[in-house]
This record gives sequence, C-alpha cells and structure tokens, in this order.
Amino acid sequence: IRVVVLFGGQSSEHVVSCMSAANVIDRIDQEKYELLLIGITEEGRWIRTECVEDIRSGSWRDGTVSAVISPDATEKCVILMDGESAERVPVDVVFPVLHGLYGEDGTVQGLLELAKIPYVGCGVLASAVSMDKLFTKIIVDNLGVRQAEYEPVTREQLDHMEAVTERIEGHFSYPVFIKPSNAGSSRGVSKAENREELKAGLLEAARHDRKILVEEAIVGREVECAVFGGGAEEVVASGVGEILAAAEFYDFEAKYYNEESRTVTDPELPGDAAERIRQTAVSVFRAVDGYGLARVDFFVTEDGEVVFNEINTLPGFTAISMYPMLWEARGVSKEELVEKLIAHGLK
Ligand code: DAL
Ligand code: MG
Repeated sequence: IRVVVLFGGQSSEHVVSCMSAANVIDRIDQEKYELLLIGITEEGRWIRTECVEDIRSGSWRDGTVSAVISPDATEKCVILMDGESAERVPVDVVFPVLHGLYGEDGTVQGLLELAKIPYVGCGVLASAVSMDKLFTKIIVDNLGVRQAEYEPVTREQLDHMEAVTERIEGHFSYPVFIKPSNAGSSRGVSKAENREELKAGLLEAARHDRKILVEEAIVGREVECAVFGGGAEEVVASGVGEILAAAEFYDFEAKYYNEESRTVTDPELPGDAAERIRQTAVSVFRAVDGYGLARVDFFVTEDGEVVFNEINTLPGFTAISMYPMLWEARGVSKEELVEKLIAHGLK
C-alpha cells in the first residue's frame, strides 16, 4: 500500500506542518506501507523528498524532482518529473499533514476527490466549514452550544474604521479578541484592551483574511478534546487535555517556541465538565460532517460552563501537540493512531 504524505503548504502554518509531518512519518510502519513524501513550498511548488531528515532540516526544499497529483480519476497516481523524464507512481491513500489554508480547508481534499484517491481526514465541506471560523460559528449556534459572542467584519469595512469600532464597542466591552476567519495556530490573532489596539488588531487580522471575527473574551481554562471516527466507524472522543500557556494567550510563539507552555491530560475540572466537553466535541464533529479526525477546543469557565472555541480538522502532530497526546493517555500509541488514521482513510 503506497501512502503519500503531503506536508508544508502555502499557509502561515507551513513550519508547523513540517514538524507534524516528520512526527507522523516516524510513526508509520514502513514494512507495511510504502511512503512517498511530497513537500509543498510556501510558494506552492510540489517537491518529492526521500527522507524524513530532509524535512527536519528543511533541505527538502532544494529537491529537484517535482511531484504532481494528477486530477485524472482513471490514473490515481503521482507524476514524478525530473528534468525531461516523467514517472507515474500509483497511489493508494494520501495523508495530508497540512495545516491551515490550502490544505486543511478543503482545497487539497477537492483535488483528491477529483482524482478519486482516498485520503485521511475530513472531506471538502467539513474541512472548509471548520477552517472558516465564521461558518463554524453559524453551525455551532444551530446546535445550541455556548460559544463566544461575535461580530463579523470584512476587510472592505475597514475603510470605514470608525463605523466598525463603534459597532464593536456597542456590542462588547474590552478586552476583545480579533481573529482572521481563516487561519490557524493563532496566526493573526490578537487581544485588544482599547480602541487603538482594536484598530491595530483589525488591520493585522485583515492581512491574513478578508473576513475577520471580533469576539468577546472568555475568561476560562483552555481545554481540548480529540475525536476519531466517522462513516461506518463510531465517532469516539478522547479524554480532555488542558493548555497551560506561558503567555497572555496561547499564541503562535507560546505554542511552538515557549518551553514554559505546558499541556496536561485529564486535568481536574468542575463537576461533569469533562464529560460535557467529550459529548460536545462529538456533536460538533458530527454537525460539520467530520470524518477521520479533529481536535475540538473549548474554554471552561470558573463555574464549570463549557464554551466551544474551535474545531481543527488536521490538528498538529508535533512533539507538543495535544491530538496524539490525548490518545496516548487513552492507551493508543502514536504508531497505532497513525495506523488507525490511514486505515480509516482507506475506507
Ligand atoms: N492548527 C494547529 C496545527 C493545531 O490546531 O494544532
Ligand atoms: Mg487551530
């Protein structure tokens, strides 16, 4: 069985994806699966690489063999091109270890649908809806699940900045969070304590996306839950994990570069909060038509209220990432987890 691992990608989470992919590849049973590793540069060039060490060092970007997934459904292959020569390599399943735009958002999934190549994880709709924080909000509102109040803002509306800030100040008191609707790993996210910071935050978020969300700040602990399954397979939730961020909030730096940020599994939570988190994680996964995997993120307030934050359909798989850690805490090793994900993708 030949597995294509896709990594990198044209998103602000490119570097995170490379870290995740190296960890996924290390856990794939290479006696059972033949690997074909394809990195996508930040410019969007697809390059074949031969070993995981090149992913860790970044030297894969110097590779000379380009790799194309043909959208031709009768071929189900990757075309490797080295100068003048082209080789067609049949593919059984693709594991997109991509985070953020052009990877976690349904675009790559759309290509694989056209090509009729099975892949790990959510389909086009679930990926697109989950990547777009505004659409996720609409679906989760429909479920009756508590989430932060929000105001949508478009990049164009920022030409009338005063009107936007007035609308937001009419709805919320500070602090507020400002987020690009489509982005991950907290890229472009900021917290504003006053009007000046709000304006700066809006402009920053607008660099990442045309659609922006301004949200009430929820005071609570940051917790996450891993989900697996879908299709013929029962949807199951892991236990709960907690983020102990070493910063004002768990921003990009705190996530990946601040060694004082910590995560714990099965923290003490008020009442039956953990059980409600697990159930809500499964409901949200079902509501977005999830398939394969997702990590669903929440806040728990002091009085035990569970507030949905977001769903990530291709959650991180780095050394510090919660998705694999939560399953390990439930007795599923990283090797078993990767095996289950690939097998599920093949169904
Ligand atoms: N977007 C990052 C990779 C995560 O959710 O883990
Ligand atoms: Mg995310």
